[in-house]
Amino acid sequence: MMMMMMSSSSSSVAGNALSSTQKGVSSIKTTSGKKRTGLGGGGERTTRKQQPVLKVIASSSAAEVKGITPQEDIKKAATRAVASCVTSTALPILEEKKFKRYEGKVRDTYVDDDILVAVTTDRQSAFDRHLANIPFKGAVLNMTAFWWFEQTEKICPNAVLVKPPVHPNVSIMRKCEVFPIEFVVRGYLTGSTSTSLWTHYKNGGRNYCGNPLEDGMEKNVKLPRNIVTPTTKEKEHDRPISLEDIVKENWMNKEDLDYCVEKTLEIFNFSQQVAKERNLILVDTKYEFGKDPKTGKIYLIDEINTPDSSRYWIQNTYEERVLKNKQEPDMIDKEFLRLWFADRCDPYDTSKPLPEAPTELKAELSARYALLYEMITGEKFQIPDVRSNRDANVNVDDKIREALQNM
Ligand SMILES: Nc1ncnc2c1ncn2[C@@H]1O[C@H](COP(=O)(O)OP(=O)(O)O)[C@@H](O)[C@H]1O
Ligand SMILES: [Mg+2]
Repeated sequence: MMMMMMSSSSSSVAGNALSSTQKGVSSIKTTSGKKRTGLGGGGERTTRKQQPVLKVIASSSAAEVKGITPQEDIKKAATRAVASCVTSTALPILEEKKFKRYEGKVRDTYVDDDILVAVTTDRQSAFDRHLANIPFKGAVLNMTAFWWFEQTEKICPNAVLVKPPVHPNVSIMRKCEVFPIEFVVRGYLTGSTSTSLWTHYKNGGRNYCGNPLEDGMEKNVKLPRNIVTPTTKEKEHDRPISLEDIVKENWMNKEDLDYCVEKTLEIFNFSQQVAKERNLILVDTKYEFGKDPKTGKIYLIDEINTPDSSRYWIQNTYEERVLKNKQEPDMIDKEFLRLWFADRCDPYDTSKPLPEAPTELKAELSARYALLYEMITGEKFQIPDVRSNRDANVNVDDKIREALQNM
């Protein structure tokens, strides 16, 4: 299994984003340690330049989501929760049961032979650095992925074992042997980094990962059809690769690969339809698959269609902005925080500490994440009750304990 091993630097305050119904003893710890990260939508290292979009979201799509939570309510709750984000976990139950712990950019993952427990934290990173902890972010990401897993279950079996999640930040999954390929799938010609599809095309590339690209296309246009542009999962930099080479270089066998490609396109097509009904364009994303070594069955794993792993644009301004006025589409993602840091320092200069993000900024971002959940799923985001945070935290461990006993 391909996971990032990192030393944990846990310390201090307990607390995270949980509902008031959850009470118990504390087991999630927070840390102020700096973490690395950096994948954006479509599996690229992103340095995308974008305009602030909160106004756009608020005026167009948000208004169309029924019963959307007022931003002020979420901001107030987030302001109370800033000091009690989930930033690093140490769960006694999983230690007792001899699970191995891995720390990724955003998630803390615990595995034994059969089960994987993923805790999506509130860590927020960019520029390959930890920027801040954003209240509710982990819950939003985990619950968004869970929602999509439910929607796409008919199309492809997924590894989720415990439904609904025992805790908003926690997924308990069947542990699979992960295929070392990320199935990046794209519907639009976009991106601005060195590895992005648009950069490749702009520089004359007319074939990407084995997909022929026709002449005369402009930035951000819809591709004639969705294409799969896989990357290898490697220690340093993920490498774009063609389907042919995946087999030739022995990353996967042809049968497994064909299945995963077919499912990738089916899930993505379906998800785009769903997004469209919500006034969103699902631009690109990436899926991962794994095999249950006992049965040989292939499952969709990891997270799917989250704002961390996908690009989403606003549908009803796309034509006017992109096709008519050649502007950038309205985007919904974490760009806001990146811009804030980029305005104040050189975020790539690792010799200097980053300025501390003010509470207001964190609350703002938190509200945006909650809004994303509501826009994507059409369901109300359950605002976690921070007054019970300490209790609730501890309850993560209890909830997992309970779930494991019942399995
Ligand atoms: N059901 C699963 N079985 C086995 N491995 C999984 C499963 N779901 C996710 N994974 C793997 O767990 C890892 C999670 O890492 P993640 O927290 O996303 O950190 P990062 O992507 O920063 O390395 C990924 O390598 C993913 O492939
Ligand atoms: Mg990941």
